[in-house]
Amino acid sequence: MATRIMRKIETEEPKLDYKTIKVDPLTPVVGAEIHGVDLSNPLSAEQIAEIRKAHAAHHVIYFRDQLLSSEAHKRFARLFGALHVHPYHTKNAAPDHAKSDKAPFPQSDPEILIVKADQTSKFVAGEGWHSDVTCDAEPPMGSMLYITKTPDIGGGDTVFASTVRAYEALSPTMKEIVDKLTATHDGAKPYTGGYGTAAPPGGWPKTTHPVVITVPWNGKKSLYVNRGFTTRINELDRSESDAMLEMLWRHIESHVAGQCRVRWTPNMLVFWDNWSVQHHAVWDYYPYSRYGQRVSIVNGRPAA
Ligand code: SIN
Repeated sequence: MATRIMRKIETEEPKLDYKTIKVDPLTPVVGAEIHGVDLSNPLSAEQIAEIRKAHAAHHVIYFRDQLLSSEAHKRFARLFGALHVHPYHTKNAAPDHAKSDKAPFPQSDPEILIVKADQTSKFVAGEGWHSDVTCDAEPPMGSMLYITKTPDIGGGDTVFASTVRAYEALSPTMKEIVDKLTATHDGAKPYTGGYGTAAPPGGWPKTTHPVVITVPWNGKKSLYVNRGFTTRINELDRSESDAMLEMLWRHIESHVAGQCRVRWTPNMLVFWDNWSVQHHAVWDYYPYSRYGQRVSIVNGRPAA
């Protein structure tokens, strides 16, 4: 067996006090369950502040046993920014896409992405490491996925990898190199290349972001390149870019000490920080069904 030497990283324990919620970390690095909140009701200012604090510290927070209407789901999301509208809608590609038997996201409300898998699915949304919609100039800072039906056979977990932890685990020399770089993120890679949706007139969104961003709400540096959308490191030749991207993706995806695996129960909402983690939906339950809906939040552009 090949041995792999991982850099030793000290994990800081978030020493945070909460008065209105209870926070149960899933791992010391990423993920926490939040207790004591009913998201179907308006929240107090103190509850909102404490949820923000937990989200900044743990990157992935989840709330079980929530009975949410779409309006309540959106109301909770709006506390963190404006609601994101997916390029399937902004680019007017949704109707065509929704009709396709490959449609991973049939949808009618532009602010809600339906996540649905059953015995007719050819593939499922998000089955591959990514951060949401990084091809947008203002990509979602966070997403809230509300799953109402979990597979009867079990499975259907979502795996999260901390890109903050992955950055910390690079050598000082590699940090110096990647700190200076920018990368192209192109919607054509997943939407046409992956899901097979014809490119809309004018093409899919394509943008440049720094390879290393500073996450405004936790002040940490984070590696912001993902296999789903990133196509090129702009300052490098093609072969150098391919090698550098593959190295960074593998580093994020294989650094299990920076990961957590969330096990869904029906009517659970997970709120993840797209700038501090990547995620991967696990499709281990075919032909069983899993349903839910996602709302994503925009709040500015990621910056170095
Ligand atoms: C997504 O990428 O938003 C889907 C995640 C999941 O279904 O677990």
